[in-house]
Amino acid sequence: MILTQDELKRIAAYKAVDFVKSGMVLGLGTGSTAKHAVARIGELLRQGKLSNIVGIPTSTKTQEQALSVGIPLSDLDAHPVIDLSIDGADEVDPCLNLVKGRGGSLLREKMIEGASKKFVVIVDESKMVKHIGGSKLALPVEIVPFCWKFTAEKLREVMEGYGCVAKLRLGENGEAFVTDNGNYIVDMYLEKDMGDLRVVSDEILRLPGVVEHGMFLDMASTVIIAGELGVKIKNK
Ligand code: A5P
Repeated sequence: MILTQDELKRIAAYKAVDFVKSGMVLGLGTGSTAKHAVARIGELLRQGKLSNIVGIPTSTKTQEQALSVGIPLSDLDAHPVIDLSIDGADEVDPCLNLVKGRGGSLLREKMIEGASKKFVVIVDESKMVKHIGGSKLALPVEIVPFCWKFTAEKLREVMEGYGCVAKLRLGENGEAFVTDNGNYIVDMYLEKDMGDLRVVSDEILRLPGVVEHGMFLDMASTVIIAGELGVKIKNK
């Protein structure tokens, strides 16, 4: 039987929800994979199989979904330590480094998932890569709107050695896409592997105007990968 990509995403998400216990504070991820986990947590709460859960949403979209399925919500100010976060990723490398943010959320995800005792990543097998950022897909960087062209050009210069083309992300209306935090996103299309990811991360974050980038290095505790031949679990 051939499973659709969405069915694989749902399988990975349901497996991750097996880690959820009553009483936990949960980081709720964003995207087409994480939405299955949020739906499942809501279902288990309604069935009485989970109780006393507090969700910390990583985007306004997830906040809306979580409220619609009956998950009580709070924030990082009230819960600076999170028991478990569950979220998707755009790319996962063999060391469990991630690229995230192609769906537009990365800053809140990084804050919440970075404050989590355990961070479980859920993907279908198409997300597994040898080197993150080395594919034809973009590395997203969230920047402030003020003089965004200046910041985008500085980013391009820093990443020039990797054959970078930097493009402002546009929304459906053809205007700049605006994040939940009121910022813009520059998508960095790279021709070459980035080599030492920590060095590149520091270089990007040093630029004034940059808020955060979509490389999540050394943050995932576990990655659940759903494929045609079953589910694989990789632990850090
Ligand atoms: C949200 O911007 C992202 O970080 C998502 O977690 C990531 O893009 C994975 O999304 P999908 O599950 O929709 O592929």
